[in-house]
Amino acid sequence: MKSELDKIRADATTALNAAADLAALEHASIKFLSRKGLVAGLFKLLGQADASERPALGQALNELKTDLEALEAARKLALTPKSKGPSLDWTLPGRTSWIGGYHPLTIVMREITDIFRSMGFRVADGPEIELVKYNFDMLNTPAWHPSRDESDTIYLANGFVVRTETSPVQVRTMEAQDPPVRIISPGRVYRRDRPDATHSPMFHQCEGLYVDKGVTMAELKGTLLAFYRELFGQQTKLRFRPHFFPFTEPSAEVDVTCPFCKGDGCRICKSTGWLEMGGCGMVDPNVLAGVGYDTELYTGFAFGLGIDRIAMLRFGINNIRLLFDSDVRFLRQFIGITPR
Ligand code: DAH
Repeated sequence: MKSELDKIRADATTALNAAADLAALEHASIKFLSRKGLVAGLFKLLGQADASERPALGQALNELKTDLEALEAARKLALTPKSKGPSLDWTLPGRTSWIGGYHPLTIVMREITDIFRSMGFRVADGPEIELVKYNFDMLNTPAWHPSRDESDTIYLANGFVVRTETSPVQVRTMEAQDPPVRIISPGRVYRRDRPDATHSPMFHQCEGLYVDKGVTMAELKGTLLAFYRELFGQQTKLRFRPHFFPFTEPSAEVDVTCPFCKGDGCRICKSTGWLEMGGCGMVDPNVLAGVGYDTELYTGFAFGLGIDRIAMLRFGINNIRLLFDSDVRFLRQFIGITPR
């Protein structure tokens, strides 16, 4: 029986090692290690062996069985195709990949910057925590001007405010470079406004500034007209209404023909045919002189446009707060919409 055992060990080892794939390995396992296989057959013979040899034979048989099973397991591992990367735990809960979208304001801001970029304007940036010096003083804002009032402006310590307009970026830009200057600066501004459907204490403006030799008001009007036609359609008309801003002289408020009724009058424009879009004017020489520009040589125009209003018109949003609430039920409606 001992020689029988040695032969089976040799045959089984060869067969298991020779198996070239999992099917062949299983074939060999069945032959030697299954319940009716050759090793099991040897265990049956054990009862017939001489009683004195039985313990030694039994131990040898057990060893044979464990050795062959270990070899089978090792071969199985070697023949199993390896998965690439870390193994997957299929019992973990799944992860949903959310599809994001652009915020309606982002869409409109990208369109605005694209249009002005195409006209040669560069995008400039400025801080939202701003010095009173830039927010008011260097913009030629007189001490008595109501915009400085604490009921309108949020004052911080040490001569700072939360900026009430994007206009201080004009001053910062001119301080940092010589003419010609051609920038726009979109961003957040803050005022003590009681929130309602059209007012929010934080809202968005886009500042514009062009300073060079011989810049005229005709260029201001032409630039804004080209901009609004690109944004609202080529039939759009522009209207300047005389106004006052400390940093421009002359100054005007800008209206465009209502893009919904084309100027005939409707609910959106409250039957006037016009929509108010922002302010503009020729940069006051006091502002240019303040940053050290030669006012004999250079003139410029500036404008400050509301952005939230444009987004609300564009997408039919009737409450400005929807823009800032981050309610996904609202935001989801913009998935898939990209800047034109
Ligand atoms: N800063 C003004 C505001 O917030 C808007 C404005 C008007 C900006 C005329 C300008 C401008 O640059 O020229 O009401």
